[in-house]
Amino acid sequence: MVANLASVRDDFPILNQKFPNGQPLVYLDSGASAQRPRAVIDKITEVYEQYYSNVHRGVHQLGDRVTTEMEAARTRIQSFIGAASTEEIIFTSGTTMSVNMVAQTWGRHFLKGGDEIILNEMEHHANFVPWQAIARERGAILKFIRLTPEGRLDLDHYQSLLSSRTKLVAVTGMSNVLGTINPIAEMAHRAHEVGALIFVDGAQSVPHQPIDVVDSEIDFLAFSGHKVFGPSGIGVLYGRRQLLENLPPFMYGGNMISEVHLEESHWAGLPARFEAGTPPIAEAVALGTAIEYVTDLGFDAIQEQEHILGEYALQKLGEVPGLQIYGPQELKQRGTIFSFNIDGAHPEDLATLLDRKGIAVRHGHHCTMPLHQHLNIAASVRASLTFYNTTEEIDALVDAIHFARQRLRLV
Ligand code: ALA
Repeated sequence: MVANLASVRDDFPILNQKFPNGQPLVYLDSGASAQRPRAVIDKITEVYEQYYSNVHRGVHQLGDRVTTEMEAARTRIQSFIGAASTEEIIFTSGTTMSVNMVAQTWGRHFLKGGDEIILNEMEHHANFVPWQAIARERGAILKFIRLTPEGRLDLDHYQSLLSSRTKLVAVTGMSNVLGTINPIAEMAHRAHEVGALIFVDGAQSVPHQPIDVVDSEIDFLAFSGHKVFGPSGIGVLYGRRQLLENLPPFMYGGNMISEVHLEESHWAGLPARFEAGTPPIAEAVALGTAIEYVTDLGFDAIQEQEHILGEYALQKLGEVPGLQIYGPQELKQRGTIFSFNIDGAHPEDLATLLDRKGIAVRHGHHCTMPLHQHLNIAASVRASLTFYNTTEEIDALVDAIHFARQRLRLV
């Protein structure tokens, strides 16, 4: 563990536990949902015990306090991603809602028949199906950037797909299966050269890498609270102000209006126009605490630890007979997400046997069916690590894989 993170595991109460069979928990599923530090859990309790009420409504003291706390969270998020204004930070329920919000507002309003959206096969369903649906509805065409054999985006092919017909490029910052880190700033720059917008799914990248939406020329960015060590049920859509200002509302109701008359209504300014109804209040406040926690740890320390883990995992998993890791084999092109299969082992059997040893991994298609079709596999096992994991836990994973291979009579 790098020095700055020496006591970091003590911040996460859930990590230091043993299962009834005596196995300590080895949590390698942070890509599906990360754990949250005590500070976030305490913040949720603080909201409910001390000042819970609705936001942006009453003049009473609780309403004032909780609104101040939620807006402080918004300000932290703005600064965390380098946005120009808090008005560009919209609270959503998570990445999926953020993508749908843009697809259903920008897409329905601006896409015409024959327009093109550039996607690729490594996208998670949340950044795939909403574009597929709106493209079908509007008569737009999907184009797919080819993947290289090692699981990166083929940038020459990307360049060849870009044209004046391209209206949007939707791409993940980090693949939730291959771990591939995509060159977002470069892709954004090229998209803008043909007048297209870029939508970045930051669900996997935002918890692991610093991001600056202005420097990287990102038009829209989505991420989820629960993957960035915050609560579930809350997420963020960042949109460049000038784009958001020209979008119609996504949902209609309270909080998003300025005036309502019998025959027509007028909409509130940003970001309220996109925040109809009562938001997940304690979750939004505590997301601010999660962002503060990550900021205080610092990405230098986080990335240093993840580099140690990544090198170790690639080496140790690479020594297991018959084990194939998908995605780039070099750490500089990938994050600490390792999806793999072992010759002769069904991923579900493997995940079940790993669980007997206390190892929590995900198995299945990881909401990336097109990618699994591309890889010509039905499913895989995925270990996703973050700064609170240790090299000892990678050893435990590898020991458990050997145990599973024996049980499955592969040795
Ligand atoms: N997107 C999440 C994952 O990759 C759910 O597991």
